[in-house]
Amino acid sequence: MTEAEPPASSSPSLGVVILAAGQGTRMRSSLPKILHPVAGRPMLGYVTRVAEALGARHTTIVVPAGSDRLREMFPDARFVVQDVPLGTGHAVLQARDALRGGCDRILVLYGDTPLLRQTTASALVQAVERSRVALLTTVLTDPRGYGRILKDASGSVIAVVEDADASEAERAIQEINSGLMAFQAAWLWDRLDKLKPRRKGELYLTDLVRIAADEGQRVTSVQAADPAETLGVNDQSQLAEATAVILARRRQDLFDRGVILVDPATIYIDLDVEVGEGTVVEPNTHLRGTTRVGRRCRLGPNSFIRDSVIADDCTVFFSVLEESELANDVVVGPFSHARPGARLERGVHLGNYAEVKASTIGAGTRIHHFSYVGDASLGAGVNVGAGTVTCNYDGQAKHRTEVGDGAFIGSSSMLVAPLTIGPGARTGAGSVVTRNVPPGTTVVGVPARALPSKGDAGRDQPAGND
Ligand code: UD1
Ligand code: CA
Repeated sequence: MTEAEPPASSSPSLGVVILAAGQGTRMRSSLPKILHPVAGRPMLGYVTRVAEALGARHTTIVVPAGSDRLREMFPDARFVVQDVPLGTGHAVLQARDALRGGCDRILVLYGDTPLLRQTTASALVQAVERSRVALLTTVLTDPRGYGRILKDASGSVIAVVEDADASEAERAIQEINSGLMAFQAAWLWDRLDKLKPRRKGELYLTDLVRIAADEGQRVTSVQAADPAETLGVNDQSQLAEATAVILARRRQDLFDRGVILVDPATIYIDLDVEVGEGTVVEPNTHLRGTTRVGRRCRLGPNSFIRDSVIADDCTVFFSVLEESELANDVVVGPFSHARPGARLERGVHLGNYAEVKASTIGAGTRIHHFSYVGDASLGAGVNVGAGTVTCNYDGQAKHRTEVGDGAFIGSSSMLVAPLTIGPGARTGAGSVVTRNVPPGTTVVGVPARALPSKGDAGRDQPAGND
């Protein structure tokens, strides 16, 4: 019940430190590790969202020197630099000045742990209400490489021993330290000075567990129910593993919303994509980036849709959409390509082998067969014949084509831009249209000239009079 929850103002304020100054050399990549995308979002983005969802008052990201790329991609984040990576304790120390004073609780997250759920992080923050230190642990059948959790006879955590420093008996312990820890801030900031350099001169954040235990303080451990949540991405195979987990979670979320995924293992839906109820996604279909899809659409098979907005009851069949917008009842495909800036109004049909770029196509207009429409604005109810091309580029600049409502563009028309074709005008098959066509006029030939028509006799017809 909401009434049972304490008001937000009475809860202690939270500061989050995200550790991301490690070298990430095992990725063998020039891209900083935490910028590698997992299902369309940089790894770090998952972690900053957890911090946001927890309502953190301050979030500070500890990065190595020269992290310009990071700063560009996360313009609102605050960074502190750790010049030399002298361990996790040293990294948190770099954030002390930025966070001291403003926050009562500190949560330490890793930039390379994208699978952590907000509910788990929240449980860790809750746990530190009852002790100075809380840490997230999990039980692994293969605990190699991780710090092990040491407990006393009563089951209280007394230390974390790093893999490299562990005795044989300690190495057999399967409960491991995920690395994520929460602290009461005042206690943390004081005790950081007590850390002693370990191997390679590193300060281990985990040594604070023993310091707390030696003081007689309780250390709380929270076990992540799903060990996947603590997966740290260190190399490309773990990146693929993390991506698979995110995609699987995403599919489950879509099933819960009434989306139908036919053969889900072949369907790739990025994390920030939205899909409406009753939409069917067929095999080998990718929905990428910021794509939003309405209800009752049919997408695929074999379609790639990126950063596009699709309204209700649309069909996209064997086609590619990029940064495009489809109103209701649009049909695209097979084998069509809507490129950035394509806007297809209600009921448009974009048929076989058609390409549209930076153009608005009016309601009910049909472009059924192998055509190119670029930098154009077509009205409603236009029929674009097979093989029509807007010749938008003269080798130097791009020019626009405007076609009025109800125009009929004959097969294989070349529309040489800049060009305006009036409402209800017609172009003959194979015409090369180089001059504007007035409303209701028919032009034919190369270059196209007006055919005299009843109502228009005697009117000024620039395309036909010279
Ligand atoms: C750490 C923990 C270990 C835990 C494991 C879980 C310590 C001493 N050990 O070990 O108990 O089981 O994580 O994955 O804390 N980082 C910095 N600056 C540094 C060093 C690290 O920012 O100087 C960052 C890294 O970018 C990374 C995180 O801290 O995000 C963990 O560093 P890593 O070197 O992977 O720690 P482990 O040795 O694996
Ligand atoms: Ca690690």
